[in-house]
Amino acid sequence: MWRLGDLRIEGRTVLGPMSGFTSAAYRDFMKPFGAAVCVTEMVSAQGVIHGHSRTAAYLGFGRNYPTGLQLFGHDPEILAQAAAAAVKMNPNIDFIDINMGCPVPKVVRNGAGSVLIKDPAKCGEIVRRVKSAVDIPVTAKIRLGWTPATVNFREVIAELTAAGVDAVAVHVRTRDQRYAGEPRYDLVPGLQQEMSVPLIISGNIYTVADAVRAVGITGAAAVMVARGGVGDPFLLTQIERYFRDGTVLPNPTVREQTEWCLELADMILAEQGEDAGVRRLRTLAPHFVAGCRRSREYRNRLATETDSRADLAALLNEISAEDGGERIYTEGRPDPAAEVRKARTVRSSQTA
Ligand SMILES: Cc1cc2nc3c(=O)[nH]c(=O)nc-3n(C[C@H](O)[C@H](O)[C@H](O)COP(=O)(O)O)c2cc1C
Repeated sequence: MWRLGDLRIEGRTVLGPMSGFTSAAYRDFMKPFGAAVCVTEMVSAQGVIHGHSRTAAYLGFGRNYPTGLQLFGHDPEILAQAAAAAVKMNPNIDFIDINMGCPVPKVVRNGAGSVLIKDPAKCGEIVRRVKSAVDIPVTAKIRLGWTPATVNFREVIAELTAAGVDAVAVHVRTRDQRYAGEPRYDLVPGLQQEMSVPLIISGNIYTVADAVRAVGITGAAAVMVARGGVGDPFLLTQIERYFRDGTVLPNPTVREQTEWCLELADMILAEQGEDAGVRRLRTLAPHFVAGCRRSREYRNRLATETDSRADLAALLNEISAEDGGERIYTEGRPDPAAEVRKARTVRSSQTA
């Protein structure tokens, strides 16, 4: 158990914000697999204040499980006003998360996202203003720094903490790495012990072993599952189970994957309608068959041959008919038990 302000969080996984992915339907689908906390995709603070209809869609969700609204913007006052307005529109928002990590040029050019970490005092000022505008917890999501030469996460965390932040998520890459390149876990050993608020650690969490390693190195209260959970919802279950009792669950079968994919499809179609939903599913569905037999062919077909729910269902049926109870184990999804054994040695060498 750890605390996010006054929220008691049971579990070690946070479903990370992913623009274009983590809609309410995606979060509702992922939650039962074990996500202890969910965060919305980033929402423009200006958009909230001006009541754009697209923004309103991001804000609507029920009180089913702890969910944070992620805001992006650059002006502390606008962010504070947006947070207050959002909570008024949707009292189910459990906490506000401020995006201080987005590397996208369009966002950065406007002074928002990762460019904020160039100015640690401003990061603190934002949290201070947002905290005074709402009476729910406020968190921030940062990167290690702008470039390897200007790594300054300790300074940023110090400012955020002084401002009363309730938790900090750290994506262990610099801004210039965008989403590629090795996450720099070598720069954050024991980071949680240096901090007085919970650390949520992010960066290449694709397997339960990755989570074990990330927590072993940093001592983080929780790991953030982002790209690794796309097409692999059971990853959340594996991570939660491991941290509960040390059990390493095997990977799911191909049949389970196809069933879950169709379940997600129905939720996305209900949320986004047939046209937008089918387009979105062409990017989501192929991930569910990564690592299965004939994966390359199936991924390709799921990305290009599905024009309707019926097409998708038929293709998933065809894939699952091939399943002889086989588990997804091949490249990209190694045997989790063997991998966790290796990851544990990282932990002991770090703490030795
Ligand atoms: C397509 C995509 C969209 C993302 N959108 C957001 C976002 O809206 N807000 C945010 O804080 N991080 C965003 N991220 C970053 C993720 O939350 C996460 O920190 C990052 O992907 C590193 O984790 P991973 O290597 O395990 O995927 C996004 C990442 C991807 C790949």
